[in-house]
Amino acid sequence: MHTFTNLVAAFENRFSASLPFPGEPATLYDPCRYLLDIGGKRIRPVLCLMACELFDEINDDAWHSAAAIELFHNFTLIHDDIMDKAPLRRGQPTLHHKYGLTAGILCGDVMCIYAYDQLAGVKRGLGPLMKIFNKTAIEVCEGQQLDMDFETREDVRIDEYIRMITLKTSVLLACSLQMGALCGGALGDNANKLYEFGKNMGIAFQLQDDYLDAFGDPEKSGKQSGGDIKANKKTYLLLKALENADAEQRHNIERLLRTDEDDKVSAMCSLYIDTNAHQACREAITHYADIAFGYLEDVAIPSVRKQPLTELARYLLVRDK
Ligand code: IPE
Ligand code: IPE
Ligand code: MG
Ligand code: MG
Ligand code: MG
Repeated sequence: MHTFTNLVAAFENRFSASLPFPGEPATLYDPCRYLLDIGGKRIRPVLCLMACELFDEINDDAWHSAAAIELFHNFTLIHDDIMDKAPLRRGQPTLHHKYGLTAGILCGDVMCIYAYDQLAGVKRGLGPLMKIFNKTAIEVCEGQQLDMDFETREDVRIDEYIRMITLKTSVLLACSLQMGALCGGALGDNANKLYEFGKNMGIAFQLQDDYLDAFGDPEKSGKQSGGDIKANKKTYLLLKALENADAEQRHNIERLLRTDEDDKVSAMCSLYIDTNAHQACREAITHYADIAFGYLEDVAIPSVRKQPLTELARYLLVRDK
């Protein structure tokens, strides 16, 4: 069994060696290389490799799936940063800030196609893997659209928020595990249980992402601080703050939502703390992580084999980037 650190290193080696982008046109491929070279935690490909290794040695099909998933993820980040008007990603200027909007659109497009090209390298069971991948990719788009729709809605409920983050974020973590498990020849409903583990872990992961957006250290997260607040994103923090607020706090939150003033981020963060929304968010993270670990326990293999996945999941809950 490999550890998280081992698998990140192994994936990085293979991934950069197998990166398929040609030299020309450099205006298309240089920005693609830029984004992939500035790092990222590589969580999704590692989840895929770990899930495969639960059942068998890591094989070429798992490597192809892992590369496809990471390329797809990076494609979504390029377009997400355009949609979210984000200036920073992984501690560097976002791709569209550095190379322009056209590059952002087209690099995203071509990276998505290269993701499918990697997937096409799978030799066993390509059909079922492609079905899972496509279903997930469609769901991510649906979730991203809901995220944008919610920016201008004032009546978003917490269950709608959870559905939105399930679609935009958590199904890709779930799919990474399910595809890896299938590449490893998982039997029975083990692959489905891993999917549910990933889905709930993914909800906790996005809750943590929202938390870090407000309360994280931008030096560590590599993203602008308070981007969600500036964009009026309907995060768990905001929805919980509205739910818990007294009349005056509600009035202040609603006023901040209508302004663009300099202290909007700091004022909203204070309200998140005063209304205990920050604490509720931490509790929600633990709640979904507990559900996730329950599914992992149910996977019918000896628990010592689950150690690397357990460690990775624990890290995701306390991460600061
Ligand atoms: C960022 O994902 C987008 C979300 C779904 C929150 P990651 O936090 O995994 O980003 P990288 O790949 O490590 O940069
Ligand atoms: C991103 O959610 C989800 C996808 C990219 C599909 P966010 O917009 O919160 O991700 P960050 O914070 O920009 O990484
Ligand atoms: Mg974003
Ligand atoms: Mg977004
Ligand atoms: Mg975010």
